[in-house]
Amino acid sequence: MKMFDLSGRIAIVTGGNRGIGFSISRGLAEAGATVVIANRHAEEGEKAAASLLGAGLKAVAIPLDVTSDASIQKMTAEVVRKFGKIDILVNNAGIVIRKKAEDYTPQDWEAIMNTNLRGMFFCCQEVGREMMRQGKGKIINIGSVVSVVAQSERGVYAISKAGVAHLTRSLALEWAKYRINVNAIGPGATLTDINRTYLKEHPEVLQAFINDIPMGRIGHPDDCAGAAVFLASDASDFITGQLILIDGGMTIH
Ligand SMILES: NC(=O)c1ccc[n+]([C@@H]2O[C@H](COP(=O)([O-])OP(=O)(O)OC[C@H]3O[C@@H](n4cnc5c(N)ncnc54)[C@H](OP(=O)(O)O)[C@@H]3O)[C@@H](O)[C@H]2O)c1
Repeated sequence: MKMFDLSGRIAIVTGGNRGIGFSISRGLAEAGATVVIANRHAEEGEKAAASLLGAGLKAVAIPLDVTSDASIQKMTAEVVRKFGKIDILVNNAGIVIRKKAEDYTPQDWEAIMNTNLRGMFFCCQEVGREMMRQGKGKIINIGSVVSVVAQSERGVYAISKAGVAHLTRSLALEWAKYRINVNAIGPGATLTDINRTYLKEHPEVLQAFINDIPMGRIGHPDDCAGAAVFLASDASDFITGQLILIDGGMTIH
């Protein structure tokens, strides 16, 4: 369908090499975009890009550490030099540290905030400046169900993700005049490297998640791909500042 067609579009996906980021990268590429996979470990990014290329899709890898301003500037400049423009930015890179609120250290706080919130803001700013020059752009920030509800033993992570929801609204308000749409996707519990070991070691937490989800299962990374394609496409041109929860109904009740 033409309104979802991303042919000719250039998309950056931070943390696009695995998990939810890789599913989104593949979804955007299948819709026609050229995807720039931007994560810290260069060889993992190259491998992910190669697997998309092997499937007849368009992808490259450019290393990025979102906690480094210089790295954000370098990656953005390289994309513009290579492709001449940036149409889509998916801010997906994220980390979690699970602790009781009373046990978090200042170092934990900084690590989480620097990646999930500070890094996201400055990726938006650097790429947003380019989109302003172009007069159009689509930014998709990956939040979480904990952008809107609290969960135990991941308080600082949840605070960072609540920040993602408001960062999204703030930038959407300021950048609407540049025709830059800024929206967010909030996945519910989804099996990826971020929680695989933890959920294996805590099957009771996995069961509690499933019990809480009306659709009766936890998420698969591919569950987020469709919403990302929609928010990256012309089909969502009049939608901005929104958070779409992809949680099997977890936050209904
Ligand atoms: N899985 C869930 O249940 C769930 C639920 C809600 C929201 N989310 C969110 O979804 C997003 C993706 O998570 P995931 O579950 O797919 O986890 P994942 O498999 O651990 O992927 C995290 C990605 O982020 C990248 N990354 C981490 N720090 C980075 C940095 N400083 N600079 C650049 N890239 C960095 C990682 O690549 P490198 O290590 O190579 O840099 C990796 O590609 C995160 O924002 C997460 O908070 C996940």
